[in-house]
Amino acid sequence: MIRIGLLGAGRIGQVHARAVSSVLTAQLVAIADPISAAAGAVRNTYGCDIRTIEQILVSDDIDAVIICTPTDTHADLIEQFARAGKAIFCEKPVDLDLERVQACLSVVNETNTTLMVGFQRRYDPDFQALRAAIDAGQIGDVEMVSLISRDPGAPPYDYIERSGGIFRDMMIHDFDVARWMLGEEVETVQAAASVLTDPEIGNRGDFDSANAILRTASGKQCTITNSRRATFGYDQRIEVHGSAGSVAADNHHQSRITVANGHGYTRPPLLDFFMTRYIVAYGAEIKHFIDCVANRAQPRTSGHDGLMSIALAEAALESVRTGAAVRPVDILNRKK
Ligand SMILES: NC(=O)c1ccc[n+]([C@@H]2O[C@H](COP(=O)([O-])OP(=O)(O)OC[C@H]3O[C@@H](n4cnc5c(N)ncnc54)[C@H](O)[C@@H]3O)[C@@H](O)[C@H]2O)c1
Repeated sequence: MIRIGLLGAGRIGQVHARAVSSVLTAQLVAIADPISAAAGAVRNTYGCDIRTIEQILVSDDIDAVIICTPTDTHADLIEQFARAGKAIFCEKPVDLDLERVQACLSVVNETNTTLMVGFQRRYDPDFQALRAAIDAGQIGDVEMVSLISRDPGAPPYDYIERSGGIFRDMMIHDFDVARWMLGEEVETVQAAASVLTDPEIGNRGDFDSANAILRTASGKQCTITNSRRATFGYDQRIEVHGSAGSVAADNHHQSRITVANGHGYTRPPLLDFFMTRYIVAYGAEIKHFIDCVANRAQPRTSGHDGLMSIALAEAALESVRTGAAVRPVDILNRKK
């Protein structure tokens, strides 16, 4: 039995509490959230303790922690729990600052800690089936990847101000999927970004619409398009084109029916956001983390994946500023 401490009882903390409760080999022992009353709801639902972070750090009855607190707390908490000898699942991003991510991962390495970063799309059944089709040779060699990720609406302004911006907060998921699907590191990033949906997002220092073109050393390419507005729901599509075919995953609708009548063919609306679209993936990623802790195995989404996604985000931001294609390796070397 892997005994879990959960840090943060907000949106994603509640999703992960439910995921832990559905894994037979895990037990949610305690939740820590110094601010939100939602910690009480988690305790009442799952029968765990409420403890402080300091108490969880020294709790002998906790093997692993799941960090779901705001982004600016992640790196400090990872370091503290690594030194306390706990296995760690941490929500993305590790930190908004590349140097801080690198320093944090040094502590993880020194302490030989199991660290998994929450890139849930790698655990989504559609994305996994798509990758499996590639691995089975069904489309030949990967040549071009196309990713479309659009949110139904922008998050609150105060979230936007603290989020690190559209590349570090939103496109970070696409950067991770791109690296996974391309199967090679990205050599250059060319990006463009604008404010098209709400001028206030620009006033808060961010963009709401962005595109990136990634290119690997062998010439494989990936295009990513992000928008903070999609009037028709949570738009999450992917296509991978290869030398012998292509494979695609379409959006998830609220049900699979199609109505045909004199007005044409209509389908129900799309799922509304990440909490519904990726609910199966969130469960599978937490199951994977618990299995890795039990078997002392390396998680499939590592601290290195967390580092590379932030490096790509910084490269994209620099490309927007300069108009030039930017090499993530230069960003990584410059920050060392
Ligand atoms: N992988 C994904 O799809 C995904 C989705 C949503 C959020 N996230 C990430 O998860 C993190 C949390 O996001 P959220 O949307 O759940 O935020 P949220 O604001 O809903 O929840 C954060 C919670 O942490 C609590 N908190 C604040 N400081 C704390 C501390 N020091 N110790 C313990 N608890 C503390 C807050 O009271 C709040 O309840 C962010 O880093 C975000 O980027 C990832």
